[in-house]
Amino acid sequence: NSQPAGTRGRVLLAKPRGYCAGVDRAVETVEVALKQYGAPIYVRKQIVHNVHVVKTLEEQGAIFVDETEEVPEGAIVVFSAHGVAPVVHEEARKLDLRTIDATCPLVTKVHKEAVRFAAQDYDILLIGHEGHEEVIGTSGEAPDHIHLVDGPGDVANVKVRDPEKVAWLSQTTLSVDETIATVEKLRERFPKLMDPPSDDICYATQNRQTAVKEMAAQSQLVIVVGSTNSSNSVRLVEVAKEHGADDAHLVDYAEQIDPAWLEGVATVGVTSGASVPDELVQGVLSWLAERGFGPAEEIESVRESMRFSLPKELRKDLRITP
Ligand code: F3S
Repeated sequence: NSQPAGTRGRVLLAKPRGYCAGVDRAVETVEVALKQYGAPIYVRKQIVHNVHVVKTLEEQGAIFVDETEEVPEGAIVVFSAHGVAPVVHEEARKLDLRTIDATCPLVTKVHKEAVRFAAQDYDILLIGHEGHEEVIGTSGEAPDHIHLVDGPGDVANVKVRDPEKVAWLSQTTLSVDETIATVEKLRERFPKLMDPPSDDICYATQNRQTAVKEMAAQSQLVIVVGSTNSSNSVRLVEVAKEHGADDAHLVDYAEQIDPAWLEGVATVGVTSGASVPDELVQGVLSWLAERGFGPAEEIESVRESMRFSLPKELRKDLRITP
């Protein structure tokens, strides 16, 4: 037993975890916009899918709205990291809004792939979760060409015009393994299926899943910090369970941990979704320490160094201000 002497159990901490480059940029966009232009700054949808981030930005003067039409004429609106359909840009133009687009560049890349395949008249099979904002945004680039495929079980329902002319794309935050299974099934039905030019599942989603797999293999319980509407966070819970953890749970805050989960647990793994600030993870580590668990031992699976610059609308204005 390798648990530190005198402790109730070990705590493993996955790395990479938490903020990805796209989330970091989106949150900073709202913070910088608030400083640059003053409150209120309107944000269409949750800037990133995390309740704590949204609450914190609200306290600083951001106003979150569901639809563009809720923004007063002429005001500033930030579009969230998940991306928007072209029709949303049109709505904003009609209302004379000043827009700052915080769409993650890796989501924009998928939008461009959709536009290109649609221009070549392909039927596009977009693998993703129905109703997710990113899927709604990407679909809006070519609504007549895109069909949603919600996992391997949905492949049989797909209808296309010409089975010889079909391409697939995906949401950026899916399970890597499940997506491979979906693509294999699609290829059985459509042997000429075209692949996207590069991975649509982003580096951050892939790396956080790789890290949780390694950690789950050594943990009885995995705690994932993240919100229930965060696709990549929910995937981390599933991947942990599939790769060795007896149990895994998603929590927004340490206070949501049920002490009963820890009964008989010698090793707890902790990680967080791409939209989660690390202070919330530190809260979980303190919670565990208060209950006798050892100091966190970080397991680094992949090194990350990705950074994105702020949206160009904002960079332009920052330059003209001393
Ligand atoms: Fe972008 Fe991936 Fe993060 S698509 S917002 S880098 S989870």
